[in-house]
Order: sequence, then C-alpha cells, then structure tokens
Amino acid sequence: MIAKTALLDYSSIRKEGLVLTEQQMETKIITINAAAPDAAQLQEAGTIIRNGGLVAFPTETVYGLGGNALDAEAAAKIYEAKGRPSDNPLIAHIASEAQLHEIADGVSQAAEKLMDAFWPGPLTMIFDKKEIVPDGTTGGLPTVAVRMPAHPAALALIEAAGVPVAAPSANLSGRPSPTLPEHVIQDLSGRIDLIIDGGCCDIGLESTIVDMTGEVPMILRPGYITREMLEEVVGEVALDPTLLDNSSVQGKPKAPGMKYRHYAPKAAMTMVVGDDEDVVPTIICMAEVAMSDEKKVGVICTEETKRSYCFSEAVDVKVIGSRGEPAVIARNLYRILREFDDDEVDVIYSESFPSDHLGQAIMNRLTKAAGHRMIRV
Ligand code: TXA
Ligand code: MG
Repeated sequence: MIAKTALLDYSSIRKEGLVLTEQQMETKIITINAAAPDAAQLQEAGTIIRNGGLVAFPTETVYGLGGNALDAEAAAKIYEAKGRPSDNPLIAHIASEAQLHEIADGVSQAAEKLMDAFWPGPLTMIFDKKEIVPDGTTGGLPTVAVRMPAHPAALALIEAAGVPVAAPSANLSGRPSPTLPEHVIQDLSGRIDLIIDGGCCDIGLESTIVDMTGEVPMILRPGYITREMLEEVVGEVALDPTLLDNSSVQGKPKAPGMKYRHYAPKAAMTMVVGDDEDVVPTIICMAEVAMSDEKKVGVICTEETKRSYCFSEAVDVKVIGSRGEPAVIARNLYRILREFDDDEVDVIYSESFPSDHLGQAIMNRLTKAAGHRMIRV
C-alpha cells in the first residue's frame, strides 16, 4: 500500500533552527503483526536499510526512523528527513551483544550488569565509540549511544539489516515523538522509503539514556527505567545536573538533544503545579481569561479531576490517565499533545504529576513541552 495521507503543511511547523527541504518520494507502508512479525516483510525492510535507505519502525518506546548506523550518508539522510540539526547524535540499535562489541569500546562490568537486567528494553547506554562508527552518526562525538529494543519487529528488522540501525524518534524535529503509526505517516510520508505499521507503542516515552563512560553511571534522559531501578543493579547512579531543577535549567545538558525544545505542541503550554484542590480552580480561572481573549483552550487533566472542567463546552479537555497509573499517562502523553495540534488550540493548561519513579520522565517531557512555563499554586 502506498501512503495516501495528506502531507503536512511544512511551512506551518517550520521552527527556528529547523531546516526542512520539501521532499516528494513514494513512501511504502506495510502493516505487521507486532507480536509475531512476518519474516519476509522485514527482510525487505532490512534490505532497504542495508542499501542506504530509511525505514520507520515500531519499538516499545516510540517509533524510530532507521538507517545504517555505519553509513555516514544514511545518517545525513536521517537528519534531512527529520529536519534535525546534525550535531544531535543518533542512537545505534542492535539485536545482539556481539553487535555492541563491534561498535563500542570500554564496556564495563556495570554496563554488563545493566544489559543483563534491562536489555532488550528501554535503556540506552553511552560508550566510547569504535572507529567503524562514522562521525555522521554520533554528531562528531567520540562516544556512541546504543540500545537493544524490546520489540519483536524492531529486533527482526535489525537482524534482517545485518548492521546496527541508527534511529532517532520518527518525528519531524520539534514535534512530539510518534507513538502511533499515523503520527509517523503525518510527519514523514513522502520523505522516507518505508513505514512499518506495528500499531501503538507500549511505553510511549523515549528510552532512559545512561552515560557509562564516567566513574559513576549518569542519567542524561529519564525514561521508563528509573534511577531506582538502575541503582538496584549497579549501586550509585548520578543524574545530569541540568535535569535536577526542571524550572530553571542551567548549563549544557550532556545529551545534545536535550537542549532543544523538543516534544513541543504548537500551542503555548503552561504547567500548573500544586495540590489538586488549588490546581483545578487555577486552571479554570486561566481558561476563562484566555477564552474571554478569544483563545481556544486545551486542558490536560486526569480521570480524577475531569468532571471539574465541565464549566464550558468550548474547552478542549483531554484525560491523560488516572493519577495512580503513571504508565498509562506516559503512553498517552505524546498522542494528546499531537491531538491538540490537530485541534488547533491556542493555549494548553496542564495539571502536573508527582516526579518520582516514572513520574520523573513524565514531568521532564511535559515541562519541556511547556518550554518550562510553570505556575506554582
Ligand atoms: O526510545 C528511544 O530512545 C527512541 C527509539 C526510537 O529507540 N529513540 C530516540 O532517539 O529517542 P532520539 O534521537 O530522538 O534521541 C536520542 C537522544 C538525543 O537527546 C541525543 O542527543 C542523545 O540521545 N544522544 C545520542 N548519542 C549520544 C552520545 N553519544 N552522547 C550523549 N547523548 C547522546
Ligand atoms: Mg527525538
């Protein structure tokens, strides 16, 4: 099947620093059974990657845009398709431990332990890179980020490609990461060779990134694998200091991609932090002010609070999940931000969540989406 979905109006999402060339190529879309993917279908996809082409594929975190990690030209194509700054390095996805040793040096005992505990899975580790990995893949860094995804189709694709697969999230740069095939089609149709439709991504937030090149492992991007889970396996784990205080990020994040205002919806978003009984009336009040200003208002709330926002039918209320189920909140987060784009709201007010465990990753993505606009009540 060939993509029939209308292409995005790129001019409407062009942002500062985002260089998008108009591209028109035929993007093939294949639908697979995510749990038991058909080997022949993935063989074709693997051949495209081996020959220097680009394939979007499902993982357990978000959809990835894959190319040959050992081919600088493929990396350049990835940056061009995404409109991504080329100083932002790519993660190399592997399907076996042998592949790790082809591309990474200095794999420590701690890294071996983390691999045993969490691979395949939503954990990316950073190592010194071997010569074979081109600078184009690592944005010129002497290190390489590596992940073994826990998704049958992703693993089968990497095996079929026969090379490590460099894959950023399969969105246009600056848009929320894709957790559904329609998100990938919307952003990249006409810009890449193939999209593998494997349905909804389970986790919905990008992998935890841990730098393994220092004395103490350091989290550069929080994700589903929490600091507590890592510390249970290897003892002390540090946090990139720029992640510590979400409201006033100072210094340069160690993962180059974390410096960009990623995950951003088109509307101006504000997080409201505090207890429910204070947060809800504050959001209602801000929504009323914005509506009297002729603005279209979106609200991100929970199952527990949704009834409080029935005061006006004009408010676009989206329930992100139940407070007791952070995994559901994580899975819904990017889809909801994209829906607000489609609904063309002008402003979004979001409730906030406890930032422990998985909540740390959820709040990290939400505050980035809000460009760190936060009100404490
Ligand atoms: O879950 C995920 O990790 C998804 C799926 C597709 O696997 N991929 C993903 O890739 O989120 P991307 O490109 O959107 O994010 C990669 C992040 C960026 O912030 C980048 O700066 C950082 O990883 N990174 C990559 N290589 C690095 C390195 N050598 N040192 C520090 N940070 C690195
Ligand atoms: Mg990304």
